[in-house]
Amino acid sequence: MKPRIGVLTSGGDCPGLNAVLRGVALAAQKLDFEVLAFLDGFEGLLPPGNFIHLNRRSTSGIMPRGGTMIGTTNRGHFVAKVGAGEKAVIASEVIEGARAVLQEQRVETLIIVGGDGSMTTALQLQESGINCIGVPKTIDNDLAATAMTFGFDSAVAAVTDALDRLHTTATSHKRIMILEVMGRHAGWIALHGGIAGGAHIILIPEIPFDYDKITEAIHLRETKGSVYSLIVVAEGACPADGQAVKRLAEAGEDRFGGIGGVVAAEIAARTGKETRCTVLGHLQRGGAPTTLDRILGTRFGVKAVRLVAEKQFGCMVSYQNYQVRHVPIADAGNRLRLVPPDGEMVQTARDVEISFGD
Ligand code: F6P
Repeated sequence: MKPRIGVLTSGGDCPGLNAVLRGVALAAQKLDFEVLAFLDGFEGLLPPGNFIHLNRRSTSGIMPRGGTMIGTTNRGHFVAKVGAGEKAVIASEVIEGARAVLQEQRVETLIIVGGDGSMTTALQLQESGINCIGVPKTIDNDLAATAMTFGFDSAVAAVTDALDRLHTTATSHKRIMILEVMGRHAGWIALHGGIAGGAHIILIPEIPFDYDKITEAIHLRETKGSVYSLIVVAEGACPADGQAVKRLAEAGEDRFGGIGGVVAAEIAARTGKETRCTVLGHLQRGGAPTTLDRILGTRFGVKAVRLVAEKQFGCMVSYQNYQVRHVPIADAGNRLRLVPPDGEMVQTARDVEISFGD
């Protein structure tokens, strides 16, 4: 009988997950492993187990498809992260149930494709004796243990496209257009998308903003003959003297959203200019992955299978210096990589006349 690997996708979906699954399936087949894919995140591990077989045939043609062919969830019985930097203990009967399912199906190692919350869960499973390999995933690109995650490039492409579209209507109407984008506590999507899409003002959580400075930047543009402005607002951005706008907390996790509308109302009141807000929302997470995300996802999936073959349990795939390597999962959970306010990217943006409202 062939040795078996399990795989699951957990947390919010993102473009490139199917490339990972295809990479896992094909690399495993080459090494003569069988792959069971557990459905809907960790919930597929609940007895009696909910899974399908992954192989060349079942993964054929999935590379360009967004989302994940095996489903995902960021709630349920295995939630181990309850807020930034906080952990919860997974119930022992839940872990024992998962262990029984894995043993019954002869799954020796579980590949967990997820973000920082999922890596926190993976660590608890690994510490309980279930062999785990992590694959980092998030459009936010905010995991400290890897220089890049797949999904980010596709999200940035969606932001760039949205800004290109907003640009033409903004110039026609001489309006201020605000685009609210995702990213939670990190401003990477706003920063990269804003630079690529030619934004004039970018507001990110790492640089608290001041409405007076935003108004100044808009007026400065007007003195130079530009009577419209494009503003990208990261969902986690907040004024120096205010708080981030949150919708609600689910399973202990904050859900951001709404800052774009708040900024729009304030700017309209201060400038008297017509101001509109677009919330890009889940359009950033859906759709086909970019070329870069297809390649990165494939590399991550293949590397995960190599780590299984080398018995590097408790490790997570990591992208460092253009190489796909690995780090202990313990280094990955609950550690965020934020935009350095004095870093090269922010400086580059400032040098092309982008204001951060500070
Ligand atoms: O972490 C990825 C992400 O897309 C964040 O950018 C965003 O705040 C959040 O997930 C949205 O989560 P949900 O899909 O649960 O609304």
